[in-house]
Amino acid sequence: VTRVRTVHLQRAKAQGEKFAMLTSYDSLTAAIFDGAGVDVLLVGDSAGNNVLGYGTTIPVTLDHMIPLAAAVARSAQRALVVVDLPFGSYEESPEQAVRSAVRVMKETGAHAVKLEAGEELADHVAAVVRAGIPVMGHVGFTPQSEHALGGYRVQGKGDAAAKLVADAQAVQAAGAFAVVLEMVSADAAEEVEEILSIPTVGIGAGNVTTGQVLVWQDMLGLRTGRMPRFVKQYAQLSETIGDAVGSYVSDVKSGQFPAEEHSFRG
Ligand code: KIV
Ligand code: NA
Repeated sequence: VTRVRTVHLQRAKAQGEKFAMLTSYDSLTAAIFDGAGVDVLLVGDSAGNNVLGYGTTIPVTLDHMIPLAAAVARSAQRALVVVDLPFGSYEESPEQAVRSAVRVMKETGAHAVKLEAGEELADHVAAVVRAGIPVMGHVGFTPQSEHALGGYRVQGKGDAAAKLVADAQAVQAAGAFAVVLEMVSADAAEEVEEILSIPTVGIGAGNVTTGQVLVWQDMLGLRTGRMPRFVKQYAQLSETIGDAVGSYVSDVKSGQFPAEEHSFRG
């Protein structure tokens, strides 16, 4: 299989094609998603919520991200593997951003990093790009700045569209190969996708972006509870797993498991 590279994502945009990105944080899902044709695997800092049991992405560290990213990179044969730089690992200075991105590249085997960066941190993106590391930007709703943004709110509506465009243009000018647009007005996302030469990747950003991304535990129904409007659920794994494990528990208690065929003799 030919590895998906940043140039292929660029080409997709030029040819009016789409690509699919999905999160993964472990080797088994990485292999399944890769085999199913996912083009880009994102080792997101959403691992904070979906793997590590935190309520936000804010406590996530590079030390958390590295073993998860290494597991995904070891298992993905075709997909481009992108790793989030977590909160606190890149904001201080362009030098800090380079140091963190270099560590991810050296210790995981992943192919690119993603930074929640727009206009304000464009210099940090540029420094990482200069170091030879592909960077995906992330603008619109940026979960690491949830408290500064006043909670989970749709970005880029009305007059705020201009700032969204400026953020996306700044990361493109800094050398990013793509930019995530999270929870933004579909009208603003359409404007950004048109103005930029690099592909945009939407999550809650309408249907016009070159790529789409979702968190796998959301789209496969492993996580329960209230889902954001932008999630489409393709399975209900929480139910499937809960039912199966319930059967296991009752089989153990009733003595139905293990049966003769699961046992050794002699
Ligand atoms: O961490 C993550 O899963 C992300 C995507 C939602 C874009 O950043
Ligand atoms: Na993220």
